[in-house]
Amino acid sequence: MVLLKMFVIPQILIYLTIQQSSCAPRSSDLTIERANEFITQNKNNVKQTYRLKYHAMAPIGWINDPNGFIYFRGEYHLFYQYNPYSAVWDTMHWGHAKSKDLVHWEELPVALAPDQIYDTDGVFSGSAIEKDGKLYVMYTGNNPNGQVQCIAVSEDGIHFEKVSENPVLDASDLPSNAQPQDFRDPKVFKRGDLYYVVTVSKTVNETGQVLLYQSADLINWEFKSILLEGTKEQGIMWECPDLFELESKDVLILSAIQMARSGNDYHNIDSVIEFIGEVDWNEGKMKVESIKELDHGHDFYATQSLLDDKDRRIVIAWMNMWGRTFPTAILNQGWTGAMTLPRELHLKNGYLTQTPIAEIANALQHVTEFKDVTLIDQSGEFNQVAGEVGMLDLVVNLEEAKLFKIELRANENERTILSYDNESKELTIDRTNSGVYIAGGENPPVNARKIEVPQENNELSLQIFLDQSSLEIFVNGGLETLTTTIYPTEERSEIILFYSEGKTVIKSLKFSKIVL
Ligand code: FRU
Repeated sequence: MVLLKMFVIPQILIYLTIQQSSCAPRSSDLTIERANEFITQNKNNVKQTYRLKYHAMAPIGWINDPNGFIYFRGEYHLFYQYNPYSAVWDTMHWGHAKSKDLVHWEELPVALAPDQIYDTDGVFSGSAIEKDGKLYVMYTGNNPNGQVQCIAVSEDGIHFEKVSENPVLDASDLPSNAQPQDFRDPKVFKRGDLYYVVTVSKTVNETGQVLLYQSADLINWEFKSILLEGTKEQGIMWECPDLFELESKDVLILSAIQMARSGNDYHNIDSVIEFIGEVDWNEGKMKVESIKELDHGHDFYATQSLLDDKDRRIVIAWMNMWGRTFPTAILNQGWTGAMTLPRELHLKNGYLTQTPIAEIANALQHVTEFKDVTLIDQSGEFNQVAGEVGMLDLVVNLEEAKLFKIELRANENERTILSYDNESKELTIDRTNSGVYIAGGENPPVNARKIEVPQENNELSLQIFLDQSSLEIFVNGGLETLTTTIYPTEERSEIILFYSEGKTVIKSLKFSKIVL
C-alpha cells in the first residue's frame, strides 16, 4: 500500500486500522478506462439495503469529499473523491455526476485517475471554474515527495486533459512555515480580472493555515499571503477551504482535523468550521468576526459550495466522518459514502443558516397533516406518519413542556432519538441504538450530539429529512442543522413515535414521501 505511507492523514490511518482495504489494481493500471470498465461490470452487484434514494452517491465503491462542484452550461456538476474498486478509501480518482435540479443525479464517467507521476498516490480534492467556455479543475496531486496542485481542462465538461505545465503549485510556492507533505484542496475563484485559489497547509507548529495565491491565467500562480492561521485548539491540520462573499460578508468554511471540543461543539474527531468576517484583499488577510461549527450531527465533512445562475450560494458535504467504522463496508454492501442534500446558505445574526435546496419540494408527495394536537405526559403515533424515506415538518409549542421526543425508525430494539430538553434548551440526536453500531476514534465516543437551540415564542420548528440510512435535521429555519447516518438492522421499522413530558402542543405536523 504505497499510498498510505505517503498520505499521512491521521484520521485515515485510524480508519485503516479499523477496516481492511481490498485489492485495488496496481498503480500502472489506474486509468480512467479501467475504472469505467470496472464500474460497468460490477455496479449491479451493489446491495440496495442502505442505498440512499435522493442523495448524490457513486454507483459502486468508496466516496469522500465533494469536488469541483459547479454550475456549468446550465447544469450542476459534482465530482467526488472516489475509489471505484472497493468500499474503503484507496486509489483516489475523481468520480462525476451532473444534475439539472440538484435532486436527480446522472452518473457520468470517471473524470480523473491517478495516472501521472505527480498524482500517482491519488487525485485528491479540488474545485472547478469556467474559463473561455471550458471547464478547468484544480486538484491536489498526491505523490511520494509531497502534495502539489494541478490543473486539468475539459471542452465538453466530461473528458479532461491534465495540462503539460503540471504541477502548477509545488513546495517551492509554500511559505517558510509550511510542511510540503500537507498542502492541498485548492478552491479556485475569480475576483475582478484575477483568479485566486485558497489551499490549506500544515505549519511546522502542527496547526492549519489557509494560503492565498493569485493568477491571471490559472496556470502561472503567485503566492499572495497566509489568509488565516489556525490556533492549536483549531486542529492539527485544516482541509477543504472555501472562501466566498455572502450578503456583504466574507465567509470561509473549512474542515479541521482534531478540533478541540468546546461545550457541545466539535465533538466529532474532525469538524467543519465557518469563519465570518472580512478579507482585506490588499493584504490578503482575513479578519474574523465570528466562528461556529457548521453542523452538529455525526456525519458532515469536507464541504464545498457553488454559486448558481440564480445567485444562490449552495453548499454540499460528505455525509460521513473520518475515524469511524463504515457499516456498508463491514457488511459487504459494495459501497460507502454519500453527499448531503445540497443546502442554500444565508446569513442571519452574523452566522450561516442552511436550508434544503428549494427543488426538493418537487419530489415531496404530501401524505398527511395534523394541526393543534396536545400531548400531555404521553406518547403517540400519528396515522400515516411513518417511513424510511420522507420529510417530517413540524412546529411545536413547548411553553409547558419538560421534554419533547421523537423516535425515528423505532422498534423494540432499535430507534434513533431526537429530543428537546426544555430546561437546558438542548436538542439531542442520539444514535446509540439506531442499528449497526458505529465505532469512532473519538474519546469518549460520540453516540449522541447536542446543540443549544433557543426558542422563539416558545416554539421549535423541525424539518427532518429521512433517507434509507441518513437523517438531516434543519432547526428553526436552518439556524442549526444536525446530519447523521443510521443503519437500522434487518428488523426494519418505519415507525415514528412522539412523546411529551409535560405538555407539548404540536401546532402543525406534515409528513411527505420523497419520490424521484
Ligand atoms: C478530506 C481529505 C482531503 C484530501 C482528500 C483525500 O476529507 O482528507 O484533505 O484531499 O480527503 O481523499
